[in-house]
Amino acid sequence: LGSLALPPYDPTPLYLRLQEQIKSAIDAGKLKPLEALPGERDIAESFNVSRVTVRKAISGLVEQGLLTQRQGSGTFVAVPPQRVEQPLSRLTSFTEDMRLRGLEASVVWLGRTVSLASPQEAMRLSLSPNDTVARLRRLRFANKVPMAIECATVPTRFLPDPTVVEASLYDVLEARGCLPVRALQRLHAANLNTEDAGMLEVAPGAAALAIDRLSYLENGTPVEFTQSFYRGDAYDFVAELNLRR
Ligand code: GLP
Repeated sequence: LGSLALPPYDPTPLYLRLQEQIKSAIDAGKLKPLEALPGERDIAESFNVSRVTVRKAISGLVEQGLLTQRQGSGTFVAVPPQRVEQPLSRLTSFTEDMRLRGLEASVVWLGRTVSLASPQEAMRLSLSPNDTVARLRRLRFANKVPMAIECATVPTRFLPDPTVVEASLYDVLEARGCLPVRALQRLHAANLNTEDAGMLEVAPGAAALAIDRLSYLENGTPVEFTQSFYRGDAYDFVAELNLRR
């Protein structure tokens, strides 16, 4: 990582100086994306600072999104995301979007449950008050970099058991003969709360694109309502515009 040797009269707090050392090690490629940082004690000893200083420096860099902490396995250099360009007019699945770009989609499940539709869900999905829905909440990755948090709600008559969805919801819907063919999508800007930002490995309050998708079968029956937060630093939505004649 280098050394903290600075003029004795430098008034910059030690933890900020340590942060600078770590940042320049990352910039210089001495510490590479996904590489583990040395242990807290080793850093403290080699820089002759306290572990409190090391902890403060590291947590600051985690907040800035330069480092990530995974429970039980330490601190790593964060991977700068590859920006993904997403055309706005095609109805595709996340898995397909990533495959088309040569990126591998993967998922961490945050929940797969069945329960009664809330009044709001019932209204959106044209359900009766006693109808049940499957809710699928997941963190989605492209080449192991977290990209989006998605919560999909699907009437159980299309998806009785959400645990059968392993990688792709649309693959399962297609196999069951109820792949949506049309969707309305709404995009708006949002700031990530601390929990979601932590999962997406960005700073709390970082910018995200919030996307709601309501998709339908050919006959107009709603199949899926999904709310997503895509990392603002990783996703471009691109639309082709034509002059109306
Ligand atoms: C996109 C859409 C979601 C949809 C999902 C399906 O991410 N925003 O509305 O549910 O694709 O993707 P997959 O089939 O990979 O689960």
